[in-house]
Amino acid sequence: MPSTKIAGIGHYVPENVFTNDDLTKYMDTSDEWIRERTGIEERRYATKYKETTTTMGAHAARAAIEKAGISKEDVDFIIFCTLSPDYYFPGCGVLLQRELGITKTEIGALDIRNQCSGFVYGLSVADQFIRSGMYKNILLVGAEFHSMGLDFSTEGRTVSVIFGDGAGAVILQPTEESEGILTSKLHSDGTYAEELALINFGSHSGYHDDIDYGFHNEDKPGGLFATEKMVNEGMMYPYMNGQKVFKKAVVKFVEVINEALKSEGLEQSDIDMLIPHQANLRIAQFVQKSLGLSDDQVFNNIQKYGNTTAASIPIALSEAHAAGKIKKGDLVCLAAFGSGFTWGSTLIRW
Ligand code: UT7
Repeated sequence: MPSTKIAGIGHYVPENVFTNDDLTKYMDTSDEWIRERTGIEERRYATKYKETTTTMGAHAARAAIEKAGISKEDVDFIIFCTLSPDYYFPGCGVLLQRELGITKTEIGALDIRNQCSGFVYGLSVADQFIRSGMYKNILLVGAEFHSMGLDFSTEGRTVSVIFGDGAGAVILQPTEESEGILTSKLHSDGTYAEELALINFGSHSGYHDDIDYGFHNEDKPGGLFATEKMVNEGMMYPYMNGQKVFKKAVVKFVEVINEALKSEGLEQSDIDMLIPHQANLRIAQFVQKSLGLSDDQVFNNIQKYGNTTAASIPIALSEAHAAGKIKKGDLVCLAAFGSGFTWGSTLIRW
């Protein structure tokens, strides 16, 4: 059975840089607070009416296709991970297929909704398809257009200062060499579904009387369509219980990385490069310390881009690789935690 290797990586971030100081024009926050609590200095925002999640994904995809030395017609399956799609449905997978102009071959396109863990889940799905011999060139994309749906008032500041826009992509191929994805570990705990969520618009219709929906609980606004009240009262924005997410994340990141290492008979010290989902620099630093890794063994770029959810790992992987920080034979570890809660890790022999 073949293994699955990453044959090409690409990323795209919008030109528009939005600094912490820029945010202070809209909400009561400060550069000092954001840097200290998150490590973020600036993020990129896509241009409304000119860009979409799909068009950003397409930029990253073209770069990954070129790096892999294939043509777009060689792609035989698409997997698209995002929580900020162009449409409620259909998903970005088919939109990307159209955007890239590969509709003639009528290949399959799958959408993954696992938020911050989307890319790690997507890698694992692609790995199974490649190992089974079903596909030879899978295009896996993570892309987010967060800035279109954030609350830029002071009420929304805890969430809004963190997130940024961008896209990353990889081409996955079979390999007979001793390289590629060694293992993936995937987990979830739906008990925490509403702790980091955008529940409207949806079919819940206030169904869960026992669930505290936060600031919009009493209003029971659910329904498949947006109401004026929902729009006017900020019910269309994401909610995050930051401290709960943080506390769970630091534990689960370490746990799921150790689980993957153990299943391959490897040690923490065997990791050459850890690329954690860029959620918060403090989370990454905690994980680094827990695993006893040096600064050279961990790659972070949240300072420049903020948290780009499904795009954060492929953007970081692309930058780390382009900077020569990942070499042939290296043990690369990817790990993510986020909304769901969902989390996972992947070990790759480069
Ligand atoms: O990628 C998906 C997974 N997401 C994450 O991993 C996020 C995990 N959580 C976090 O990163 C952190 O919880 C945050 C960065 C979101 C928040 O940091 P925190 O240290 O947990 O702050 P907090 O929510 O406990 O708020 C502390 C104080 C509060 O003021 P009081 O009540 O102490 O007076 C907040 O109102 O900071 C205030 N605050 C802010 N102040 C300035 C919250 N957000 C801001 C802000 N600017 N943007």
